[in-house]
Amino acid sequence: MEHVSPLIIRLNTLHQELAAELQAIKTIAEFEAIRNKFIGKQGSITIESKNIKDLSLEEKRTTGSIVQDIRKKVEELIEHTQQQLITRLQQEVELQKQFFDVTAYTTNALESSVHPYTRVIQDLEDITMNMGFEIIYGMELETEFANFEALNIPVDHPARESHDTFWLTLPGKLLRTHTSNVQSHMLQERKPPFAITTMGRTYRNEATDATHDYMFMQFEIMIIDTKQSLSNLIAIAQEIFRCFFKNNELKSRIRPGFFPFVEPGIEVDIQCPFCQNGCSICKRTTWIEAGGAGLVHPNVLELCGVDSTKYTACAFGFGLTRLVMLKYGINDVRLLHGCSLDFLKQF
Ligand code: PHE
Repeated sequence: MEHVSPLIIRLNTLHQELAAELQAIKTIAEFEAIRNKFIGKQGSITIESKNIKDLSLEEKRTTGSIVQDIRKKVEELIEHTQQQLITRLQQEVELQKQFFDVTAYTTNALESSVHPYTRVIQDLEDITMNMGFEIIYGMELETEFANFEALNIPVDHPARESHDTFWLTLPGKLLRTHTSNVQSHMLQERKPPFAITTMGRTYRNEATDATHDYMFMQFEIMIIDTKQSLSNLIAIAQEIFRCFFKNNELKSRIRPGFFPFVEPGIEVDIQCPFCQNGCSICKRTTWIEAGGAGLVHPNVLELCGVDSTKYTACAFGFGLTRLVMLKYGINDVRLLHGCSLDFLKQF
């Protein structure tokens, strides 16, 4: 009987063990573990094959090619099993997709809701777009020029004091203190006539309480054309508030106001949407301050490269944060800017 080297016997046994173990695998991880166990660097077949070096020259000659054959079969087996496994897993995924029930009930599903800010912004965008305004997304990081100088607020102007500014460490750069910065950009970039609206965050270094935060949102409109009037601006503002509060009778009133970048300047109040004779929201006055407005100062037009003898512009800037608080009866701005899910879930 032909002599079979013990090395070959051991390798054959390992080959059989490998085949048996591969039969039972279900996952890629299991497959990888078995492959490592047998043919990894420290795998049993790898180590056993190395023993060939201890054989005599004669034995090496006879066994060498057999060892090669066994190794080849082992590799083919592993390759084949891997292919089969991948195909099977892909089929399982396909099958699961077929039976995926989109209506299946799940517990603990998280319900989401739209933030009150988002709702109000969407409302105002709808209203103003329907009136023909173009929506501009302005910048919150701003230059001193666009936020102040171009708006007729030079370095020594007292109005700067009311805009407690967050200055950046970069010279001449700041967090915008109002959305009027968009006015100066648009006047420099666009050729009149145009009508724009913009909304977004503004920052002032103020102490925080129920009605103040260092970040608040504003909503701004500007129209520039050869003939613009204050009465047109007031009518537009009133119409926007009527649409926003869904009340066609809602009145507004104006008072003189000072903003360096408008002349004349006015403050606009709207009739309290919640009462007839005074309530806690309007502090018993039946009026609510909405924001500032006016005809854009000729200095601003000229500083931005627009011919002030040819064009007139009007603008208003209103507190968007205040509108959100009014619309949803929120009495503490910190709640609106916080991340309490219990609070936000109510909307
Ligand atoms: N930017 C002004 C403010 O923040 C509001 C305003 C805008 C006034 C446009 C007049 C015209 O108070």
